[in-house]
Amino acid sequence: MGVEVAVEGLTKSFGSQRIWQDVTLTLPAGEVSALLGPSGTGKSVFLKSLIGLLRPEQGSIVIDGTDILQCSSKELYEIRKLFGVLFQDGALFGSMNLYDNVAFPLREHTKKSESDIRKIVMDKLELVGLLGAEDKLPGEISGGMRKRAGLARALVLDPQIILVDEPDSGLDPVRTTYISQTLIDINAEIDATILIVSHNINLARTVPDNIGMLFRRELVMFGPREVLLTSDEPVVKQFLNGTMIGPIGMSEEKDEAQMAHEQALVDAGHHAGGVDDVEGIVPQMQATPGMPERQAVGRRHERVRQILHTLPESAQTAILQSYDQEEAAHVAAAVPAGYDVREDDTQVIPVYREEFDQQYGQK
Ligand SMILES: Nc1ncnc2c1ncn2[C@@H]1O[C@H](COP(=O)(O)OP(=O)(O)OP(=O)(O)O)[C@@H](O)[C@H]1O
Ligand SMILES: [Mg+2]
Repeated sequence: MGVEVAVEGLTKSFGSQRIWQDVTLTLPAGEVSALLGPSGTGKSVFLKSLIGLLRPEQGSIVIDGTDILQCSSKELYEIRKLFGVLFQDGALFGSMNLYDNVAFPLREHTKKSESDIRKIVMDKLELVGLLGAEDKLPGEISGGMRKRAGLARALVLDPQIILVDEPDSGLDPVRTTYISQTLIDINAEIDATILIVSHNINLARTVPDNIGMLFRRELVMFGPREVLLTSDEPVVKQFLNGTMIGPIGMSEEKDEAQMAHEQALVDAGHHAGGVDDVEGIVPQMQATPGMPERQAVGRRHERVRQILHTLPESAQTAILQSYDQEEAAHVAAAVPAGYDVREDDTQVIPVYREEFDQQYGQK
């Protein structure tokens, strides 16, 4: 099972420029989390800090019992082996073909034979839909293909922690969904801890178990998806609905006067963009049928139930409703051939179809 990453009081500056401060969050082991935020809020800087490529000046990052800001470089080297990282730009070696790029971590960190390496590399290239392109150089393929090659390379050591920076940038919507599905399936299969950095609203709403939001040098919120998707926090609400109305502006900060002006425009009938007609808890992407069930979902539900009483009443209702719907869909999907589903107020029960017909009459 994946490893928990516990970040506490983390602060990072470059010279006099403060990027973010006092960031505290825990990526729960074996769950998928997403870090959102407008461009330039330091999402990539955060990701690079987690693997020790950048050094925050304050706070701690504890992975598998080790604070990577305090440990020796030898310990850091060992901890890094737990990670698979897809950088925002793919970060492939320009002079190596895709095969050698993907094989690189295996040759560097393992003693596997070339024939074993070949099996793994081809397997991962197939997973990301790049079979047949292994001889190409990074400069000869599209941005989206480079991204997918980067993902293949990130997965090659079967990492327990997977960090993915903007998996959707440079990808069309269909391929973005494929990549999301791949990440969900990997989580189902090996229970890896995954952090996705993104500003794609669709991905944020449908993929992760937990969502965090960076804004104005702070972590505004971090928690289970149910909690953020029902949140009234203005920044979170605006971002998850992709509208212009709210505190986030083109140049990041807006003043009161501008917010009032924009609200007046909307009140007068101007469309503020975004997808606010589908607010609330949208269904989460599931593992491909045939894959093991995602253990993360049950663990997350359990955590949410424990804090449910602290949430606003409307959120509690929406969350419980979404659980009922999930449960109903789950039972319906598991109904064997020849069976039907009987639904009452509280539960959905598979019944044998003949019995169903006898009880409720032919449909
Ligand atoms: N190595 C560096 N040295 C100095 N400043 C840096 C460095 N890396 C990033 N920054 C600055 O940190 C800030 C945050 O950058 P970062 O790339 O983390 O943003 P981001 O949230 O990932 O944005 P995007 O969504 O556009 O990818 C920017 O102002 C950037 O200029
Ligand atoms: Mg970035």
